[in-house]
Amino acid sequence: MSGPRPIVLDCDPGHDDALAILLAHGSPAVELLAITTVAGNQTLEKTTLNARRVCTVAGIRDVPVAAGCARPLRRPLTTAAQIHGASGLDGADFDEPTVPLSDRPAVELLVETVMDRPGEVTLVPTGPLTNIAMAVRREPGIVSRVREVVLMGGAFTRGNVTPAAEFNIAVDPEAAAVVFEAGWPLTMVGLDLTHQALATPAVLERIEAVGTAPARTMGRLLRFFGDAYRREAGLASPPVHDPCAVARVIRPELVEVVDAFVAVETEGRWTSGMTVTDFRGTLGRPPNAQVATRLDVAGFWDLIIEALARVGAPPAGRGPVATA
Ligand code: BDR
Ligand code: CA
Repeated sequence: MSGPRPIVLDCDPGHDDALAILLAHGSPAVELLAITTVAGNQTLEKTTLNARRVCTVAGIRDVPVAAGCARPLRRPLTTAAQIHGASGLDGADFDEPTVPLSDRPAVELLVETVMDRPGEVTLVPTGPLTNIAMAVRREPGIVSRVREVVLMGGAFTRGNVTPAAEFNIAVDPEAAAVVFEAGWPLTMVGLDLTHQALATPAVLERIEAVGTAPARTMGRLLRFFGDAYRREAGLASPPVHDPCAVARVIRPELVEVVDAFVAVETEGRWTSGMTVTDFRGTLGRPPNAQVATRLDVAGFWDLIIEALARVGAPPAGRGPVATA
């Protein structure tokens, strides 16, 4: 198969989810078939509104935005308001979105999209894995029909919401276990990789210099995100997690991976939500994932800037935006 890779972005915007949407939309190497939303960084109502806001700012009009699960499979929802704010996308002002909400439930749309195009569709989850697990439960046939799953979540060294667990997995470990045990080609783009993608002051300047309305909005969002990470995590610059998964689909060589068996801990007293990663086969299980280890940092940011330059109209009084 040649041409752009069809993907579905399953997300919980979220500042870094917003950048993942812009990266996918601005990259000719992928075709964004649908955006599905899930509760995570904020409630489902807010993440869905935020997805429509981002699409409106970016001029994404031909991609259905469908709402999914409002809570994890078996646990109450925990959100990340301390990082993403009360709206889930604090730091920029948004007009009332003009991009409508699809009347299709996300899980139904996910299943149909994969089943309609056997072997073609890549799923890119960048939030808790509730929608994806529900889709597997509803139609197990998607496991053999999907091209691959490239998700942002997990870690093989240390977590961010607990010492052991990363947020997307910690919110819904039971769903994550379904996804990691499904038996489909799966790439885990976890914190070990995404903490190499830091939106430094130099990066922020490059993003703002793109000069379009979406890039300016993204700059404001990332400045808020950076303040939150400095305050909450003591990091000088914020890691932009979710676009790393999209970048792996667009240009796989930017993200080095190593095969491993990954088990999701659902019961541990101290380790619930941990992605236990066995690189050496000590558990006697065959690998079920490609685990992202190293990012080509310069290549990643060039990809982001090139994509942003293709998104949205130039502000009045400026010439056309370069699309190199
Ligand atoms: C993940 O958690 C969320 O807050 C981010 O959007 C990202 O998907 C990082 O742990
Ligand atoms: Ca996310």
